[in-house]
Amino acid sequence: MDDLKRIADEVRACRLCPLGGMRKNAVPGEGPANAEVMLIGEGPGFHEDQQGRPFVGPSGQFLNELLAMAGYQREEVFITNVIKCRPPGNRDPLPEEIAACAHHLDRQIALINPKVIITLGRYSMAKFFPGAKISAIHGQARRVDGRTVVAMFHPAAALHQPALRAAIEEDFRRLRDIVREAEQKAEQTEQPAKRTSGNSASGGEQLSLF
Ligand code: URA
Repeated sequence: MDDLKRIADEVRACRLCPLGGMRKNAVPGEGPANAEVMLIGEGPGFHEDQQGRPFVGPSGQFLNELLAMAGYQREEVFITNVIKCRPPGNRDPLPEEIAACAHHLDRQIALINPKVIITLGRYSMAKFFPGAKISAIHGQARRVDGRTVVAMFHPAAALHQPALRAAIEEDFRRLRDIVREAEQKAEQTEQPAKRTSGNSASGGEQLSLF
């Protein structure tokens, strides 16, 4: 049986891409195995690399505030990233780094089986909605492979841009409703994980509330 600790241990030992040799600490992610909400960011920054924990710098501070607005404590949700090691100078992750790291994230998703996945920023959005524009789909609950996925702006981008900040705050304030609707949808379908023709590459099937 896979478990989160085993995945974390494998992430810490991972050398599947060069970032494994440059990090101070790998950042596997943290949160309970039965989390109903999973947040997926881009990759560790300086503070995360220092501590081996996700979202512990300024954007993490803001993320904690957003979660509080949604009525969640940070300890209730699972927080991770598309790539688990910090790229030098906080540059954007490369496609080959994302590809090398994908199986860690896929195993975390399969194990936790969250009711709702929130993608933070464009790299995690692209995993579920390739080709989509975040300005067009942010905050919309969509079904992708039998799961509810919502793209949101990255907290680091939203922190200092008033329009994006207002948007991400509004999106987080709707999170409880999104989770409730996802529960209802899951009860109706029971059958997870089959991609239907409605789940286009850049869209997914939009849920009714949003
Ligand atoms: N930005 C991210 O995308 N992830 C982190 O863990 C921290 C900052």
